[in-house]
Amino acid sequence: MKKYLVIGNPIEHSLSPKLHNYWIKKNQLNAIYDKKLVNENEIKNIIEEIKNEKINGINVTVPFKKIVIPYLDKLSFEADKSQSVNTIYMENNKIIGHNTDIAGFELGLKHINYDVKDKKICILGAGGVVSSIIIALNKMKASNIILCNRTKKKADDLKFFFKELEIVEWANVPKDTDMIINATSLGLKNDDNINLDYKKIGSNKFFYDVIYNPKQTNFLKKANSLGNKTENGKMMFIYQAHQSFTLWNKIIPKIDKETIKLLD
Ligand code: ATR
Repeated sequence: MKKYLVIGNPIEHSLSPKLHNYWIKKNQLNAIYDKKLVNENEIKNIIEEIKNEKINGINVTVPFKKIVIPYLDKLSFEADKSQSVNTIYMENNKIIGHNTDIAGFELGLKHINYDVKDKKICILGAGGVVSSIIIALNKMKASNIILCNRTKKKADDLKFFFKELEIVEWANVPKDTDMIINATSLGLKNDDNINLDYKKIGSNKFFYDVIYNPKQTNFLKKANSLGNKTENGKMMFIYQAHQSFTLWNKIIPKIDKETIKLLD
């Protein structure tokens, strides 16, 4: 039986096992997907289990997407560029780290027919997922990427790798922005609020939250009530998992209404 795992800390909230085990069953594979709470000092040993084939694939979540890199033999182009790994597997006896968050973000937007081309995008936050979002936005030919973060130093650090970024003060979303992305952890708690000047940003904009649980953060609620288009990170989550599953099993699982409903 093949064994897959998602590692992180915390990990309790992860819906990856639910989604992967659903696809495993649908495709009648002899496999199981589990979640494991790990500390940093356990990472080396867990990755070694891929080498001795006790584990066939690992998904990595917060806060280990960068930390796992030194324990891998090779990075895919996407993982190297983003310095973020969420999918690990073995190929030709080498442990490979790959990033499917980039494709997840892109395919999630395609799923709802939102075209980023020539749009002005403002990202809130500078945490682990942001480099993936920047790479996807560049690939989709956004015209401008503006970024702000509470701790400005982290925004400046990102600009070192992505020269095209325009850094602004925290919560200063420019008025002519087309799409505003919440990539902070603000919203995970139901009473979290982001102190944006929503009225100044205007209506008919697209507010996107990487968070999908809760389904509608206050950021999306507020934007919605002012007549903006909104979307949460559920499809991004589904597509990143879809890419990992396809890579590991060489089977393209279906994303249908039932799959999407599974995560409600
Ligand atoms: P990490 O930074 O370890 O990658 P993350 O969950 O991916 O963790 O990122 C958390 C993001 O949410 C960061 O951009 C963080 O801002 P700081 O860099 O200033 O910490 C942001 N964030 C968390 N709490 C916040 C708050 N109360 N106000 C504004 N931003 C917040």
